[in-house]
Amino acid sequence: MQIALKIWRYDSSTGERALREYELDAPEWATLLDCLDILKDQQDGTLAFRKSCRMMICGSCGMRMDGAAVLACKTRMYDIAQAGHVPTISAMGNLPIVKDLVVDMDPFWEKFKAMKPYLQPGYERPEDGREYLISQERMNVVHKESLCINCGCCVSECNAMESDPEFLGPQALAKGMRFVGDPRDGATIERLEEYSTEHGIWDCTRCYFCNERCPKGVDPRDAIAKLGAEAVHSGVDRDMGAKHAKWFVRSAETTGWLRETELVPKTQGVVSSIKEIKFAMSLARRGKVPPPFPPHVARDVDEARNLHNLVRGQDRGGALGQVQGEHALGKLAHGYDEERDPYGPGSFPKPYLPEEGAA
Ligand code: SF4
Ligand code: SF4
Ligand code: FES
Repeated sequence: MQIALKIWRYDSSTGERALREYELDAPEWATLLDCLDILKDQQDGTLAFRKSCRMMICGSCGMRMDGAAVLACKTRMYDIAQAGHVPTISAMGNLPIVKDLVVDMDPFWEKFKAMKPYLQPGYERPEDGREYLISQERMNVVHKESLCINCGCCVSECNAMESDPEFLGPQALAKGMRFVGDPRDGATIERLEEYSTEHGIWDCTRCYFCNERCPKGVDPRDAIAKLGAEAVHSGVDRDMGAKHAKWFVRSAETTGWLRETELVPKTQGVVSSIKEIKFAMSLARRGKVPPPFPPHVARDVDEARNLHNLVRGQDRGGALGQVQGEHALGKLAHGYDEERDPYGPGSFPKPYLPEEGAA
């Protein structure tokens, strides 16, 4: 099949940057990575990109297609060529470009190392000298996080990292959850304290782009939600983000509403709130904030309270209380357009639904 590609070429040593167009002949089964290989082999040996396994496991071939991160070896070109589309290929975002499609991964690995991605001592070894047995239910908590191949596609699209390059980011935090959720790790509280400081868990903007782009289904945003829940559950809640979340739960339980007016004093404390009085008054004058007293209580507040009591009674505190697969469930609930899936028709693994029977 005939394929056309536009590729952003860049040379960090000279600063030269140019969008070049290429045409090539490739077999119908070709992926984006196959096409780049053909190009480099037959037309332009200076084109730089990373690759290794060619089977979605090493994480080397992350790059952007039409502005969204993909694994080149997972991206089939057949449908794109059939549609006559000419995709634009560029280097991943949020990391410095070295040459063409190759980015400097050092900042990525620095954050990875900062998570201390190894089990720390402190757990009790089984007395009989045999292996440490963990229940399936316990491992399910970190199953998705264990699938990460460190490709950087999530980091490429992270909104919070764009405005704060020091933000730990989705990949590092997902790695953190992989160890916080592991019952053999002996440093859970220390980890939660470290991950809850500035540039940590609570600086995520919840844009969900990392879930959207992760090619392995890790769903890093879900991992960050689990870290936040574990932090609050363990009493590591000094950060304003944790206080913010706790107040929303309390507010929903007591009134059935999210009382945003009281968010500032409950989150930032009395002194900071006093400093914001002038701003609050100007908002109130323009009718932007409802009066905090008496608090508005929803007519069916008992429903909110019952829901709260139900969840509490299920003993699902911390990470166990997080809904898994929100992204996949969202696709089911809001419709899924297979034609627009960048990985092609059939690539979306539908969650198992009991009424459909075992697939
Ligand atoms: S959800 Fe959070 S971690 Fe994920 S991409 Fe958005 S800001 Fe980054
Ligand atoms: S979380 Fe997903 S996108 Fe991010 S590095 Fe791991 S595998 Fe890649
Ligand atoms: S080449 Fe290894 S993940 Fe693509």
